[in-house]
Amino acid sequence: MHLSNFPVACLLSAIALAVPTTSLSSPTQVDSAPNPIGTLYPTDVTGTINGTIAVVPIPYSLARELIPSQYGILKKAYKSALPGFPHDMYPLIVRSILDHDVGLNGTQLIPDFQSVHIFYPFVDLLGDGYSSFAYGKYLILTGTNTVAIGGSEAYGQIAIPATFKPENNSYAFSHPSRGGQEIYLNAYTNESDSAVVTTKFKPLPSVGPWPLEFYVNVTNQPIFADGVKCDQQITFFNTTLSTGVNEPVGIIGDISISAPYLPSDSTFRNVFGLKLDVAFLENNLLECPSLKGL
Ligand SMILES: *[C@@H]1O[C@H](CO)[C@@H](O)[C@H](O)[C@H]1NC(C)=O
Ligand SMILES: *[C@@H]1O[C@H](CO)[C@@H](O)[C@H](O)[C@H]1NC(C)=O
Ligand SMILES: *[C@@H]1O[C@H](CO)[C@@H](O)[C@H](O)[C@H]1NC(C)=O
Ligand SMILES: *[C@@H]1O[C@H](CO)[C@@H](O)[C@H](O)[C@H]1NC(C)=O
Ligand SMILES: *[C@@H]1O[C@H](CO)[C@@H](O)[C@H](O)[C@H]1NC(C)=O
Ligand SMILES: *[C@@H]1O[C@H](CO)[C@@H](O)[C@H](O)[C@H]1NC(C)=O
Repeated sequence: MHLSNFPVACLLSAIALAVPTTSLSSPTQVDSAPNPIGTLYPTDVTGTINGTIAVVPIPYSLARELIPSQYGILKKAYKSALPGFPHDMYPLIVRSILDHDVGLNGTQLIPDFQSVHIFYPFVDLLGDGYSSFAYGKYLILTGTNTVAIGGSEAYGQIAIPATFKPENNSYAFSHPSRGGQEIYLNAYTNESDSAVVTTKFKPLPSVGPWPLEFYVNVTNQPIFADGVKCDQQITFFNTTLSTGVNEPVGIIGDISISAPYLPSDSTFRNVFGLKLDVAFLENNLLECPSLKGL
């Protein structure tokens, strides 16, 4: 039903209706706390997203090339949300996550799945000069999760079936026996023996330099691909998943992305981001203009 990354999750409600009501088994060994809002919004699709989100500065000219030319880019909005961001650069977002416990009223309707979403926030889909949407062409996700793949494709996304290391998890710790805190997640497709996306991060003493509000903002921008329908994911930073011992942690690290997910194979070093777990509520297959003003 839905996908979980942003984009994916959306599909859920639509798809959920088509899914038999027997509960699906979830992957064995998922290390993620249960959905804390499943029964609070009994008639809505909710779930959790555990993983990392990173801000990758790319030349504005490249973003302009990759975002369909009919849509403007809300440059002033992202510049004001990112004080000190390099001039003439644009904040590409890379989100690597495990979608967990996605369903209705506390019932998990789709198996957990992993994904990498490379997306372009602050896109002026409606041409009104202020409503920010997140554009992304590709969603790289667990290849066995046909429901999530169908959900992604319902938005016109190109769903790329993949496997991940670690499997069935948000990320793994590189050297747990040595007390290491470095985390990684790699995505593989059938087109190549080497990973198509790799991420590797170390924790920082605090969140920065990009403010937490920036991440809250971009994870709440409605997601689209072909612009026919939009996926609204409302992220909750106020549950036990995102507060106290689980509060978001600032990270720094390296990301590699292969073509065609960017035009050429690219490695970005020392990018900043967050390690986080959040609950979300998802409204699938909305008319995009209904989200004006977000
Ligand atoms: C991951 O989940 C799938 C589906 O439930 C399962 O078949 C597989 O054994 C799991 N892998 C690991 C390493 O837990
Ligand atoms: C998120 O996943 C990581 C990696 O498995 C795990 O250590 C962490 O406990 C999870 N967070 C929550 C709140 O479950
Ligand atoms: C949600 O589940 C609870 C029990 O878990 C049930 O009492 C309630 O009627 C359900 N609500 C809906 C809208 O399905
Ligand atoms: C790889 O997967 C894609 C999408 O599922 C499929 O169309 C293609 O035939 C596969 N290629 C190979 C070499 O198996
Ligand atoms: C994101 O920030 C922009 C610029 O401040 C604002 O206009 C927009 O409403 C915010 N979007 C969300 C979903 O919070
Ligand atoms: C928690 O956050 C969500 C999403 O921003 C919001 O709708 C909800 O009202 C908040 N709940 C509380 C108790 O503040």
